[in-house]
Parts: sequence; C-alpha cells; structure tokens
Amino acid sequence: MIYDSQYNRLALLGNDVRDVTLFDTTLRDGEQAPGIALSRDDKVRIASALSDLGVDVIEVGFAASGDTERGIIKSIASMGLSSEVCSLARSTKRDIDAVIECDLGYVHTFLATSDIHLRYKLKMTREEVRARAVDAIEYARSHGLKVQFSCEDATRTDLDFLKEMHIAAQDAGASVINVPDTVGVIYPSAMTYLIGELAKVTKVPIAVHCHNDMGLAVANSFAAVAAGARQVHVCVNGLGERTGNAALEEMALGLYANFGIEAVDLSKIGSTSRLVSRITGYPIAYNKPIVGRNAFAHESGIHVHGVLNNAATYEAFRPELVGVDRHIVIGKHSGAHSVKDRLNELKIKFPDEKIPELLAKIKDLAVGGKEIDDAELMVIADHILWKREDGDHVKLEEFAVFTGKGVTATATVTVNIDGKKRTSSNTGNGPVDAAIKAIRCAVNEKITLEEYKLSAITGGSDSLCEVTVVIKGAFDESRLSVGKAYGLDIVATSVDATMEAINKDYNRGMRE
Ligand code: KIV
Ligand code: ZN
Repeated sequence: MIYDSQYNRLALLGNDVRDVTLFDTTLRDGEQAPGIALSRDDKVRIASALSDLGVDVIEVGFAASGDTERGIIKSIASMGLSSEVCSLARSTKRDIDAVIECDLGYVHTFLATSDIHLRYKLKMTREEVRARAVDAIEYARSHGLKVQFSCEDATRTDLDFLKEMHIAAQDAGASVINVPDTVGVIYPSAMTYLIGELAKVTKVPIAVHCHNDMGLAVANSFAAVAAGARQVHVCVNGLGERTGNAALEEMALGLYANFGIEAVDLSKIGSTSRLVSRITGYPIAYNKPIVGRNAFAHESGIHVHGVLNNAATYEAFRPELVGVDRHIVIGKHSGAHSVKDRLNELKIKFPDEKIPELLAKIKDLAVGGKEIDDAELMVIADHILWKREDGDHVKLEEFAVFTGKGVTATATVTVNIDGKKRTSSNTGNGPVDAAIKAIRCAVNEKITLEEYKLSAITGGSDSLCEVTVVIKGAFDESRLSVGKAYGLDIVATSVDATMEAINKDYNRGMRE
C-alpha cells in the first residue's frame, strides 16, 4: 500500500512507462567501492539473493580482472539463476575472451566517449573510438554473446557523437545501449532531454547508469525512465564507485509507487539489503530511505500518536511492503501514547497517573539522543512501580570521584543524616569501591558490603546499567538491606543503590 501524493497521479497521467527492468551491478560497480572485496561465497550468496529478489540482470564482476574472478563468475554462471548473468568487459578482444571463458552468454562492454576521456585517458580520436566499439561488439556477437554497450561518461559526451555511437553500436549488434552518468553530474531535466534525444536514433532499449556524486542518482534514473529508458542500473544499498549508484531499494519502490511496475519482489528488499550490508561490511545509514533503521522509526509524541491511529499520517507506505519493521522509539521526544503502547505490548500494567513520572525519567535518561529499548523501559517502569515512598533519612549532598589509569581511585562524599552533615573521603580498587567506602565512612563504619551486582541492561556502551547492593549494618548491625538503582553511569548508579539500601535500613530502624 502506497500513500502517495495526488500530484504524482496528475503529473504522470497518461504516461506509458511499462516494463522497466533492473540491472543490478552490486557485484561489479558495488564491489568497486573502497574497502569491499567479495569472496566466492560472498558473491554466490549475493547473486542468489538478487535472483530470488527478481532483478532482471546481475552483473557479477569483471572477468578480465584475473583467474580468481573468472572462477567466481563461472560458478555463478552455472548456478541456473533466474536472472540473466553478465560480466563487464572493456571493448577489447582480450576482455571479451575472458567473458567467453566464463561460459556467460551476456557481456556488458564499454568505451569512454567524452572528449575529456578521449584526450586524457584513451588518447584516441572519435573515429578510433567508434571503430573499436564496433569491433568489440561484432566480436562478442560473433561468439554468440548478447551485448549491452555503454558509452562511458555519456553525460559529458558531445550529443552528435553520442548519437553516432548509439547508431554504430546498435548496427553492430548491441541489444541494449546504456547511458552512464559516470561522474554523477547530470541534472534530472537534462537527463530527460538527453534520453529524449538519444531515443530519436536508438532503436534498441536504452538503459541508464547513474552515479550519486550530487545525490541525484535515483532522481536522474527516474528522469531517464520518464523519457523512455527501459532499464536502470542499480546497486543494493546504493553501493558503487565513490558515492555509489542509484539504490536498488529506492528505484524498485519508486517504480512501483509511480508507475505500478513491480520490477522485483518488494517484500524481499529488506532482507537483501541487510544481507549485502553484512557481507560487504558497509553499514546502512540510519536515515537511508526504505531500509534505514529510521525509515519507519517514530519517536516524537505527535507522530507516534498519528501513526498509531493511522500509519498513513506519517508513513509513505507500509513497512511490510518492503519486508522491514516499524519501530516506535522511546526517547527524549516520546509522549504518553507511545509509552503506553509500548508498555501494553510488553504486557506491563502501569497506572496512567504514573506516566508523567515515567516520561520525565525517560527524558532525563535520553540525553544525547539515547533511545530507551524494551529492556530498559521495563527496568525504569519497574523502579517507578516499586519505589519506596517513605523518604530518606540519609541524604547524599555531594559526591565526587577521582579516577584514571595509574592513579588510586579516591571518592569524597557529603551526607546529611537527619540534618547533620558529614564529609568523608576514601580510596579503593576503582571508583565504585572508593565511592562505597567513602559512603561507609560518612554514614557508619560498621556497614559491610555483602553483595554487589552490576548488569548492563542491553549490549551497547551507552546502555542503562542496573546495580543491586546488599549491605549489613547501616542502622541495625545484623540486618541485611537491599538497594537497587539504574542509570547511565556505573559509579553514580552504584552510589544510588548503596544510598537506597542504607535508607531502607534506617527507615525500618526508625519505625521499629
Ligand atoms: O560508471 C560507469 O560509467 C561505469 C561503466 C563501466 C558503465 O560503471
Ligand atoms: Zn559506474
């Protein structure tokens, strides 16, 4: 379900965009991103996920780059995937032979056509470039290969020459001609113009390959589609050289939302994206459209209230459509609705009148953008539900700890026991030990620490911790007293738990 804008329908009224296919180059252009080096297993797993997802073509690598790469391409070629499988090749016999050696039936061959590339890279004339491209395409065709041809740096190529190249390539037997925006410089309306011009002379389907240097790869690909391009090169998670290629997720969803084209099985987008992120080691940006962890995360009270009533208020489409989850974040901006909803989900009965206290506590803890997860919410709620209501006889007025590497941890505390202030300092094996010893000295030397338990509530370094201490001898020499506290700082939380244990014993003692 897409909750799209009525203006899209008006703007796209009468468009006849149909049958746009996706050419996935995660395993070739994506692998060219710095730091990505995929093993055979990695490529095999990604290729089969892409085939299950339903992309039309998978560019699995660059056959001429070596024996290992050819071995990998050969194994993928023999997997019987439902997608077509091809390899990149420069426009040379040697590169095309490398593709043939991999038992592939499809080659994507390219040659640069912009003056800048001709002059500084290829050192060739336009005539030489045209002749070399034609030779390569004819050679590949004569070996039975299907050919997709790319004029590298097309968007900076002289238009007349680009048209000449398209005509020459199709006459030589290319079945698809790709228009790469190699350095990601074109603007969407310029792309519409360029594809419109090329469509006048190109009889075979036109593909586009857009890089994201200006953040326009997806927009440019859509501009090309609207102008007649029939295939879009994409990479999962927008991987690719430099700032990447058009993101598969965004193209697939946009094709569905705007043109009703299901280029892939949309429900597998989330899992494919996670797989590629895990294998490549490239994290998915939190705010990445479609698959970023914030794509369906709602924290602010107003938004959560809206989404809980009707997701269309603040979502463009339902997360299930692309196989990801909605995530109601409990944090600084949360309101009563989200917290109540979360507590209900967690089956925690929590009185409405205590919700403001819970929200205040969450706001305190959510400093620096920390999110409160379920385990942490349960601990906070639990502490509020079971809080002592009997007040403190022993109040902690000041607390400081000095610690570091190679120094003896030293703590100083000032307590106020029924109006009398006492200050004490002590050293210890670390800041927690020093703090608890300083409290003992200030309150009652007879206090012994019987048990100390620290648990991180979740795994992160900014996770809440919960401390339980069992002490003896605060008021009554033989009685055990338990204190529990939670917080972000281990030392401060340990101090809070110790003070709670002391006060419980005092309160009991004063009552008796
Ligand atoms: O960006 C580019 O121009 C390429 C070509 C090989 C198509 O990746
Ligand atoms: Zn590229």
